[in-house]
Amino acid sequence: METIRIPSIMKETSKRHLLRGKTIGFVPTMGALHEGHLSLVKRAKSENDIVVVSIFVNPTQFGPSEDFDRYPRDMEGDMEKLKREGVDILFMPDARSMYSDRFSTYITVKDLSDKLCGAFRHGHFTGVATVVCKLLNIVMPTRAYFGQKDFQQTVIIKRMTEDLNMNADLVICPTVRESDGLAMSSRNGYLSPEERRAATVIYRDILSASDLIKSGKSNPVDVKKQMHDMLKSEPLISEIQYAGVYNAETLDELNEFKKQNLLAIAVKIGNTRLIDNMLAEF
Ligand code: PAJ
Repeated sequence: METIRIPSIMKETSKRHLLRGKTIGFVPTMGALHEGHLSLVKRAKSENDIVVVSIFVNPTQFGPSEDFDRYPRDMEGDMEKLKREGVDILFMPDARSMYSDRFSTYITVKDLSDKLCGAFRHGHFTGVATVVCKLLNIVMPTRAYFGQKDFQQTVIIKRMTEDLNMNADLVICPTVRESDGLAMSSRNGYLSPEERRAATVIYRDILSASDLIKSGKSNPVDVKKQMHDMLKSEPLISEIQYAGVYNAETLDELNEFKKQNLLAIAVKIGNTRLIDNMLAEF
């Protein structure tokens, strides 16, 4: 595995592969890699000649009171895992090479960025869209891989690539879960053992909401109520930021079911913010 730290060198390397007719699969990450990330890498590996993974803890997507400084970092472990997956190139830029002193261009995907997580993380999706645009411009992948775990992020990146006529095909991969259903996340490591146990309520809540939708005997208001009631029954949940049924394209709350319904939750357990989602058919 080749490690590249300088954006211009990454770009030259990609150009060389593309000129030779190779396809490039790209998985952008912030590191602290788990099986969720690695499922994207495996998929990229199976569909492309060359696989590039980036590890960059992007400062512009963290709010001033968020966990940028303590975000988990495990460079050695990550490199080991990526080598084992047969990754060709690890792109690991530092913050200075991505954001110079004169950096002044930001991408904001309007409306979509203010909903769900955006209402609680101001500026977060501008940071995400900006860094993903930069990474796609540097790596120039044939396909870029993202997890459904961050559903809103995928909707925003899709909008951006369509609006700005960007080239990469986006591939959205299913959420990988622990054996008890908790969606894998680099932030799960913040949880104490009691909090970790409590966190299983999130997926159980989504599953029973999905059952209720499938029963055909309910409506979005009742589903939302059931979701909130179950979350409130877990004393270690310190805040419910949102939980309910949403339009999977606009991310607006639904008044009546559609064929595809987005069930989505964001809660805090202690100080740890956890999200999860699922598409439920009516
Ligand atoms: P990060 O949280 O490191 O996630 C990198 C990719 O892995 C994202 O596409 C995310 O949706 C996916 N992922 C995370 N947990 C997953 C799981 N349990 N199952 C499947 N996929 C999972 O998302 C980011 O980084 C950043 O915002 C980034 C896109 C890299 C921009 O900085």
